[in-house]
Amino acid sequence: MSSPLPALHVLAAHLEACVRRGEQRVWISPEARTALKEIIRMKPGRMVFREAAAPESADTPAQLSPPAQLSAVEPASPGSRVAAADNSRGLQPTVPETRHPEPRSGDRELLTESTPAPLSKKDRLAAVATRAESSPAARALGTLRDKMVFATGNPDSPVVFVGEAPGADEEKQNEPFVGVAGQLLTRVIKAMGLERSDVYITNICKFRPIVDDGRPQGTRNRQPTGEEMNACIEYVKEELAIIQPKVIVALGKTAVEGLLQRDVAITRLRGQWFEYQGIPLMPTFHPSYLKRKEDEGEAIATAEKRKHWEDILQVLERLGIPITDKQRRFFLPREQS
Ligand code: URA
Repeated sequence: MSSPLPALHVLAAHLEACVRRGEQRVWISPEARTALKEIIRMKPGRMVFREAAAPESADTPAQLSPPAQLSAVEPASPGSRVAAADNSRGLQPTVPETRHPEPRSGDRELLTESTPAPLSKKDRLAAVATRAESSPAARALGTLRDKMVFATGNPDSPVVFVGEAPGADEEKQNEPFVGVAGQLLTRVIKAMGLERSDVYITNICKFRPIVDDGRPQGTRNRQPTGEEMNACIEYVKEELAIIQPKVIVALGKTAVEGLLQRDVAITRLRGQWFEYQGIPLMPTFHPSYLKRKEDEGEAIATAEKRKHWEDILQVLERLGIPITDKQRRFFLPREQS
């Protein structure tokens, strides 16, 4: 194995997901065990691989003190391994709890002697992206294209924009919101006084939906279905749990439906605060909708952009970003501005 890091990221994200589901014990594959061993091999002095002594009673699963961070024991059934995940410590698997099948004399345990450095948000997101790419649920649908477009931007951003799904431009450039709608979103972000690289931009569906009408798809795009969004939602949840932004901006009805499971017109929801995983969420118009409104004339488009901008002003307030008088007047009719 050349480097254990990608495997470590995948394993860490898996354990993290288990912790979030409240699982106390995690079965890990032989491959994961190999990765753990490799990590241990690469960090001599930090971890040891030792023979476990026979426990004295069922209440003494292993003579491990609290600093021990990583443990894997031979399970009763051959071919798999178990590690326990500790809710209070997030990423690190830790000592098996007492009801765990006892290690027998001669079983082997992997123990750490010190806490491994925590993974950065970027690394943890990379691990989620790796898993999303091979998402069995998304692949099984057969309605999504192969290439994944995950997300872009700053994992430490206080604000996350969530759209629908990548289109042809996004697929080509491997980045969300880079086409016509994306250019409008970029202008909105700049009007907020921020740069694209300051914020985090993602989609509720990580693959471009297939337009299957017997003709070549070309540049045609479509919105993701509920099934397609549900196939990807676990990755979006994980992204948001890692980033922990102060605010989520849900762009358009589809994103709101995917996140909040509410099939309601965006005109009825926009401008009001909701919550997703305990994070304030502001639904607002999708930039494609605002682009389409431009075809209906300037007055109509400006009125809709103003509504969108009022939602964004609420977001700025929530983020504690000072708003200038000029910003407050954006998209107001001339006589009011
Ligand atoms: N529309 C979206 O919702 N997401 C993109 O990435 C591009 C367009």
